Amino acid sequence: MSHVVVISGHPDLSQSYTNTVILEQLEARLDSVEIRRLDTLYPDYKIDVEAEQAALLKADIIILQYPFYWYTMPGLLKKWMDDVMTFNFAYGPEGDKLKGKELIISFTVGGPQDSYDPLGFNHFPIEHFMYPLQQTAYLSGLKYNKPVYTHQMVYTPGIYNKLEDVQARAISHSDRLISLINDLNVGSWEKSITRFVNEWFAAMDKLTTEDSFFTKSLADDINWSMPHASFVGHAGFSEWYAEAQQTIKPDCSHDVQQVDITAHGDNSYTVEMRVQLNAETYEESALKGEVLDKQLKELWTLDLDKSGKITIHEYLVSVL
Ligand SMILES: Cc1cc2nc3c(=O)[nH]c(=O)nc-3n(C[C@H](O)[C@H](O)[C@H](O)COP(=O)(O)O)c2cc1C
Repeated sequence: MSHVVVISGHPDLSQSYTNTVILEQLEARLDSVEIRRLDTLYPDYKIDVEAEQAALLKADIIILQYPFYWYTMPGLLKKWMDDVMTFNFAYGPEGDKLKGKELIISFTVGGPQDSYDPLGFNHFPIEHFMYPLQQTAYLSGLKYNKPVYTHQMVYTPGIYNKLEDVQARAISHSDRLISLINDLNVGSWEKSITRFVNEWFAAMDKLTTEDSFFTKSLADDINWSMPHASFVGHAGFSEWYAEAQQTIKPDCSHDVQQVDITAHGDNSYTVEMRVQLNAETYEESALKGEVLDKQLKELWTLDLDKSGKITIHEYLVSVL
């Protein structure tokens, strides 16, 4: 299941008739959601960049939720973007922290649909006003989705619209937004497991990673089997890992060339992989400086719970 982080850019939700409804709907209807109300978090516009970046790192789907102000986002949300989308976070040589996350732009618009037309008083289609955000997404590796927006959302008692009409439109906006989130969720277990596999082997490549990084994802009765080592449980893993660290030099390479994931229901999966291992070993180790160049077949049985936590129950490795 995807974790959704909603950045609410309305500058004063106590004066909102429609964004509040959308936020309430998201809070009530999504299983894993964090809503960050910038108006209450930062009434002084001083954004806590570390807290905002930490929230984004946990997100699978990021939603920018705001009222359309002067053909763009409110100043508070723009300030949030300027402060949070920093060098080596959102762009730059190491700026890949948002890469692969889904971005949904969700906003409420005052003007009617026919005004956003060459012959209407707003002249340009709404999508044209999205180009800066769309390009921001491309630059930072965010996946840009078709924006969700609703017209005629301004409510001024006795002048523009009826309260029940704008709020009904806000509910229908929430329905469309949640349906898009659900569509993005399909296949999300595949993404979670693939990401986990990549993180696992990146840590195995380093060989300097603490063994708790691995054991936290191993069942207490993990059944582990390799050509020269078989054991059950965490103590067996720790012993094997310590020996691997004394044998193989750090910065080796586990190149995951193929991953096939099969779902079995009840959150249980098998993951079959082909992994190319290239490594150098220490002269004084049992492998006496041998250079390893092996194709491995790995078969894992694991489960993925609702919070996204993965637990491996069986870990079988054979040499091809
Ligand atoms: C400062 C300001 C600027 C606005 N600019 C636009 C605009 O450029 N185009 C438009 O269609 N509506 C515009 N509106 C109307 C808002 O988009 C509308 O009031 C808002 O989406 C309603 O959301 P809320 O009920 O959550 O406040 C503007 C409203 C304000 C207060």
